[in-house]
Amino acid sequence: MRIAMIGSGYVGLVSGACLADFGHEVVCIDKDPDKIAALNEGRMPIYEPGLDTLVAENVRQKRLAFSTDLKPAVAQAQAVFIAVGTPSRRGDGFADLSYVYAAAREIAEALTGYAVVVTKSTVPVGTGDEVERILREARPDLDVGVASNPEFLREGAAIGDFKRPDRIVIGAEDARAAAVMQEVYRPLYLNQAPILLTGRRTAELTKYAANAFLATKITFINEIADLCEQVGANVQEVARGIGLDNRIGAKFLHAGPGYGGSCFPKDTLALVKTAQDYGTPVRIVETVVAVNDQRKRAMARKVIAACGGSVRGKRVALLGLTFKPNTDDMRDAPSLSIIAGLQDAGARIVAYDPEGMEQARPLLQGVAYAEDAYACAEGADALVIVTEWNAFRALDLARLKALMAAPVLVDLRNVYAPAEVERHGFDYSGIGIA
Ligand code: UDX
Repeated sequence: MRIAMIGSGYVGLVSGACLADFGHEVVCIDKDPDKIAALNEGRMPIYEPGLDTLVAENVRQKRLAFSTDLKPAVAQAQAVFIAVGTPSRRGDGFADLSYVYAAAREIAEALTGYAVVVTKSTVPVGTGDEVERILREARPDLDVGVASNPEFLREGAAIGDFKRPDRIVIGAEDARAAAVMQEVYRPLYLNQAPILLTGRRTAELTKYAANAFLATKITFINEIADLCEQVGANVQEVARGIGLDNRIGAKFLHAGPGYGGSCFPKDTLALVKTAQDYGTPVRIVETVVAVNDQRKRAMARKVIAACGGSVRGKRVALLGLTFKPNTDDMRDAPSLSIIAGLQDAGARIVAYDPEGMEQARPLLQGVAYAEDAYACAEGADALVIVTEWNAFRALDLARLKALMAAPVLVDLRNVYAPAEVERHGFDYSGIGIA
């Protein structure tokens, strides 16, 4: 099949490369000429493990190409994916759909024969209807289908998630569009991934419901962690104890500094807004959003408490800045709130992150950067593990202690066993560990 992918950001690039790897002919389009030039030279605009080799191989096989020119790619395509950004709108938190609708208008001008236009970006319920209206208004003559096909990719594991999904959700309003979409994912029948055919609005809502549920699960265990600290229990054991119940499931029960990233914060807010607009508020999700926001700042207070109640004039070293490991993404990262809280309390911050420092620089003021974990710890009054990069899992604790001004370790990801760290003479605090 010939596929056009409009938008070569995170979702578009990963999806385009994987669809090419399935054997389709894919052209990834982007308005940014620098991005397309870089991709044509084999340079990736994002950090995602395995993406560069996947792109190179499919470009070599002539199944994958990049262009700023939407017209010829769309004219030939049987499926046109819209994978442009949907940032949170300033003020009301609602998803900003102007890029999606602008793409729809351009696609309308470029289509020649029957094609299915597919929203891949996470879009509020009813966006597919509006895309269809735009297409039909611009080109009443057009033979076109409109489908919703939400992505469930995790950054850092996106290629595996695309190729071996738990499920594929396809929302279409007619059999012809559904058939084209099934053809797009035919290679996955071999992996026996369930394909759920639903109505368009159902598919759109499924994405939000999935992300809101996962955000709720994380927030739930985070609150249980706080309670564990007060009652003298261990949240990791509680998580295992409940997670072995299949109805609950073991995943997404790691207590930490609160969820961040490009999806959960934005999508939970957008769901809250949609539900309010329809007069059926999702109160659990509203609470999750509020609790998670407060939690990020509370983590700064936790560090201050570990430092004996004050960080004024103290040097606090942060290991990890990105919202999770294996990405350079700083969007809504807990580190941003933690650093702001610590700076407000008078701390001097030094930080190290294996991939995120370049993205972090413009977002943070007054932060010094170190070139590795040990340089970061030098002279520090406290060391805080914010992101669980593998590089921080087996640090030489004796060496760290010798470098630091005070042996205080705050482990916001429960990477270390308390007994082991304390044996090295550290004053240790984890999350939800009494
Ligand atoms: C998420 C969804 O998993 C994915 O299906 C969707 O398409 C996009 O949003 P992503 O944002 O890449 O993916 O990261 P994910 O691994 O889900 O982590 C999100 C946040 O939750 C991170 O800040 C992470 O640290 C946090 N988290 C996750 C926890 O604090 N505890 C957990 O148990 C799991």
